[in-house]
Parts: sequence; structure tokens; C-alpha cells
Amino acid sequence: MTSQYGLIMPLRLRSHGAAVALAITSVLAVGCAETPLLPENADAELVMGQDVYTAKCSRCHGASGAGGLGSSIRDISERLTEAEQIAVVSAGRNSMPRFDGVLTDAEIAAVLRYVREFM
Ligand code: HEC
Repeated sequence: MTSQYGLIMPLRLRSHGAAVALAITSVLAVGCAETPLLPENADAELVMGQDVYTAKCSRCHGASGAGGLGSSIRDISERLTEAEQIAVVSAGRNSMPRFDGVLTDAEIAAVLRYVREFM
């Protein structure tokens, strides 16, 4: 059993590297706040969306999207269309900074999807 485990682990780590890294990130994040967890089979865009959110948005909107310095963005899909949400993130609004030129279009699309699907 031990030797089989020893052989299998490196393979699992290689193929599921992103999931393993995500699991570690999630465990760390849960320690200080409630970042929504992604399922283990989350695709690359969602993983990117969570990374962008953690790096660029959570300090104002909170780990769980419940707000703080910024407004709550939970259940945002009930208030804004995707186009409106992209416009706010790209161009900014009042004290919400603009991310046009800071994030790529792909990163904005990814964080939009993460927030809409998980918050
Ligand atoms: C410096 C703090 C700050 C950061 C960083 C920040 N926001 Fe905001 N955000 C705000 C504030 C403040 C508002 C409310 C703006 C207003 O009053 O019009 C807001 C509003 C929003 C809204 C509109 C909410 C609504 O109900 O209409 C969305 C969507 C949003 N932010 C997404 C993001 C995303 C995604 C990121 C990261 C890429 C981000 N924000 C980063 C402060 C911030």
C-alpha cells in the first residue's frame, strides 16, 4: 500500500496540481474569512476568477463578497446584467477603481463569472 501510494501521489499531484493548490489556498482562506470554495473540478477560468478576486477585489468587497470598504456584491446577478457588471469593473464607479488596463478582458470575464456563480 505504502509503495503504491508513493507511486501514485506524484502522478496525482501533476495532473491535479491546480486542484491541490486550490485546496491549500481554500484551507488558508477559510482560516481568515469565507472565500467561496470552488468544486475540485472547477475549470481554469473559475480558478483564474477566484485568484483575481482574492488579489484585486476582496480587500474592498470582502472574502465572501459581503462588502466592507466596497458594497456587497453578493447576488449581483439579480441587480446587474453581465454587461453592466463588466462596465463597472472596467470603468469604475465613484470610489470603485477602474480595472481597464489593470486586468485583461479574460481576467475581467473570469472574475465576473466567479462572482456571479459563487457569491
Ligand atoms: C478600493 C476598493 C475597491 C476595490 C479594490 C474593488 N471595488 Fe468594486 N466597488 C467598490 C465600491 C466603493 C463600490 C460602490 C461604487 C458606487 O458607490 O457606485 C463598488 C462597486 C462594485 C460593483 C457594483 C456593485 C453594485 O451593486 O452595483 C461591482 C460589480 C464591483 N464593485 C466589482 C468589483 C470587482 C470584480 C473588483 C475586483 C476586480 C472590485 N470591485 C474591486 C470598491 C472597490
